[in-house]
Amino acid sequence: MDGAMGVVTYGLGTLLGLVLVVVLTFWFIQDVTQKKHTILRNFPVIGRLRYLFERQGEYFRQYFFANDREEMPFNRAVRSWVYRLAKDEGGTIGFGSTNNMSEPGNIIFVNAGFPVLEEELVPTPPLTIGQGFCREPFTARSLVNISGMSYGAISAPAVRALSRGAREAGCWMDTGEGGLSPYHREGGCDVIMQIGTAKYGVRDGAGNLSMDRIREIASHVRAFEIKLSQGAKPGKGGVLPGAKVTAEIAGIRGIPPHQDSISPNRHRDIADADQLLDQIARLRDATGKPVGVKTAIGGWEFVQELCDAVHRRGLAMAPDFLVIDGGEGGTGAAPQALMDHMALPIAEALPRVVDGLIEWGLRDRIRVVASGKLVTSAKVAWALCAGADFINTARGFMFALGCIQALRCHTNTCPTGITTHNRRLQRGLVVEEKYLRVANYVRNMNKEIDMIAHSCGLKHARELRREHVRIVRSAYESVALNTLCPYPEPRRAGELRAGDRFPSRGSAASRRKPKSRAFLTNPG
Ligand SMILES: Cc1cc2nc3c(=O)[nH]c(=O)nc-3n(C[C@H](O)[C@H](O)[C@H](O)COP(=O)(O)O)c2cc1C
Repeated sequence: MDGAMGVVTYGLGTLLGLVLVVVLTFWFIQDVTQKKHTILRNFPVIGRLRYLFERQGEYFRQYFFANDREEMPFNRAVRSWVYRLAKDEGGTIGFGSTNNMSEPGNIIFVNAGFPVLEEELVPTPPLTIGQGFCREPFTARSLVNISGMSYGAISAPAVRALSRGAREAGCWMDTGEGGLSPYHREGGCDVIMQIGTAKYGVRDGAGNLSMDRIREIASHVRAFEIKLSQGAKPGKGGVLPGAKVTAEIAGIRGIPPHQDSISPNRHRDIADADQLLDQIARLRDATGKPVGVKTAIGGWEFVQELCDAVHRRGLAMAPDFLVIDGGEGGTGAAPQALMDHMALPIAEALPRVVDGLIEWGLRDRIRVVASGKLVTSAKVAWALCAGADFINTARGFMFALGCIQALRCHTNTCPTGITTHNRRLQRGLVVEEKYLRVANYVRNMNKEIDMIAHSCGLKHARELRREHVRIVRSAYESVALNTLCPYPEPRRAGELRAGDRFPSRGSAASRRKPKSRAFLTNPG
């Protein structure tokens, strides 16, 4: 009898074991072949655990973790917000905000007592860059756009998904400094071609700017952007190790394959504001396209010198747009000393640069694009209040592509296939799925930004002004941004001398009120 029981138990055990193996194998195959979730596709076992912890974590979080707002550079609340927008799951949350609204630096929008009725709202109008100064000005529709990330820093599937998503949602995509690849062109979106210090993609054999290459590229792009610096590593060039210089990348960048490629820390042919304007004019004349400049801001001299040079040489010489990158910006790789401590955050840099343009009477001429952790609708709405015309984000789109903030961009081991050339890891990033997330992210961000504007009593987001946002100073006090950073009087440029500094906060000039409401509502 005992023997028979033993056989039955053994048989049942084996059967259960077999069922378990079959179920696990089925799960495994299902996970590695599904296309929606990158981590599950690349790491089926760890991926399952991760999803389990993520889901159940909502119930147990309070016992193990402090809160949702602690991690850097982006905390969990912000990441989840972006994921929800990208997955088109809506921006709705329950119970209450985990955002400590009384924390200094927090932004609070000024809700209107009597907001505009739904039926009176109008779509946010597009804005044209280079109107009246270029043969082919560029009309941009989306407030939110894809910041420069070169093919090389990010993978081919990532660039392809971004390009197709940008096309779907109607935003632009910046190439970053690695040149224009076929992947950027795949989706047929509006492309801005960045020219970095190594002039990848537009250089001749000696590494100098090739106007023939510029003319060739011009037919595929809407605008050019001269990159002076980016927030994460101002003043730092780079080495692209020979191992990463594949034949394909070498072809796109115009460099010899399998050899280290050095990008200088400054454009060799641009040593001051006048030379910058010369280069801008040269590119614009040759291509007819708008030409802009990307830079991080350390102090006020740069904008001062730039505006002074434009004033001396005429509006036609001005850059058509300025991209201001905050010191908190991201990168594929940079020294910590620069990442942690170089260049001003966008919160300080943006309003001061805009003030400079207003003072010199250049605000209508030069469009302003802001970047630096502006990955949520609220941060973008703040930037519009401060004076930006558009915003760029890099890491917002990385999250939309499935980035989990593993902080491994510089190691070629990105688990989500975004910043790696490892084919096995890239396999997880399915372009057909992820391009939709990119498009959802853009659409939902634009929608939420409009929603914020509507709550402020405005018809659309381009009406946002500094008086529509308050900055928290302590638990008991917030101050409107137009009090903290008052709009300056647009002084006639002739009154300024080259050596003049921007008025400091609290100076008589900075306290002056703008002349009229028209100026307040129509900054250009
Ligand atoms: C992976 C990666 C690659 C980047 N490559 C470039 C580049 O080629 N050129 C550039 O100007 N900025 C580059 N950046 C900086 C971004 O364009 C952007 O200015 C910065 O990350 C701030 O935006 P964010 O905070 O929304 O990411 C890169 C950033 C990342 C994360």
